[in-house]
Amino acid sequence: MALVLPERGCLVACEKDATSLDVAKRYYERAGVSHKVDVRHGLAADTLRSMIQNGEACRYDFAFVDAEKRMYQQYFELLLQLVRVGGVIVLDNVLWHGKVADPLGKSN
Ligand SMILES: C[S@@+](CC[C@H](N)C(=O)[O-])C[C@H]1O[C@@H](n2cnc3c(N)ncnc32)[C@H](O)[C@@H]1O
Repeated sequence: MALVLPERGCLVACEKDATSLDVAKRYYERAGVSHKVDVRHGLAADTLRSMIQNGEACRYDFAFVDAEKRMYQQYFELLLQLVRVGGVIVLDNVLWHGKVADPLGKSN
């Protein structure tokens, strides 16, 4: 995503695990996109809340969520505030094994 951002674009990357963060930073460097990536170490929900408190509501065009499925509802509510009207929020694996369509929540 950072590769296709314009030079003045900014991607905020949330990660709670320091080791994963080091790996990610290494690849941002290698790809030449470090200047476009604002890395936030900590729990994503805390980061998103602090972004809202810092006046960043409606500033973002796009969000991609790929962690902790049980937190998706909360991430979605926070991202609705951060992503502008007409922006896009993508949640990875939402249809996981069809559970979302199972009224008893028991499929698989
Ligand atoms: C499936 S991986 C993401 C992979 C990434 N989308 C990619 O394509 O490289 C999930 C990551 O989310 C991180 N993570 C899990 N829970 C988190 C949380 N509450 N806050 C921030 N990061 C979290 C994990 O440490 C892990 O690195």
